[in-house]
Amino acid sequence: MTGAICPGSFDPVTNGHLDVIGRAAAQFDRVIVTVMINQNKRGLFTVDERIDMLRDATTDLPNVEVASWQGLLVDFARERGVGAIVKGLRGANDFDYELQMAQMNQKLSGVDTLFIATNPTYSYLSSSLVKEVATFGGDVTGMLPDEVHKRLLTRIAERAGQ
Ligand code: PNS
Repeated sequence: MTGAICPGSFDPVTNGHLDVIGRAAAQFDRVIVTVMINQNKRGLFTVDERIDMLRDATTDLPNVEVASWQGLLVDFARERGVGAIVKGLRGANDFDYELQMAQMNQKLSGVDTLFIATNPTYSYLSSSLVKEVATFGGDVTGMLPDEVHKRLLTRIAERAGQ
């Protein structure tokens, strides 16, 4: 197999994302982890910060690169000459939403989406939930890479002090 894109908001990357990225990297020659830019959604981290954290967290995976894209995911796939999108599935809620996007992307471009069943260790994780728990002082140790965890606590403290 050749290349695949792992797209997402990654605000910030969690250990659940990294599990899917690592497993995609074991199946494909080249994986492009892509931070999708959504102008209508203000993130906790800037796109550059998210890229930086993803790069740090994937240094052990030589066939993984990190990029960002604004616009349709399938246009990015076309530009990079990649024929597959890889997504993690945590459960039925993910499936309903992901199936619809996969079918739309297939219809638009012929690019197929391949799903990886999330490792049950991480299936309860989402960036949003981790941010919420950490904001209210809950312990999110082990849910994120250590460096991302530190940056998350710093950003939450900065926001609280504003
Ligand atoms: O991490 P997320 O927020 O669940 O990721 C969703 C994302 C960003 C991968 C999805 O919304 C997406 O692909 N957006 C890019 C715009 C696009 O192509 N929209 C049409 C999807 S069928």
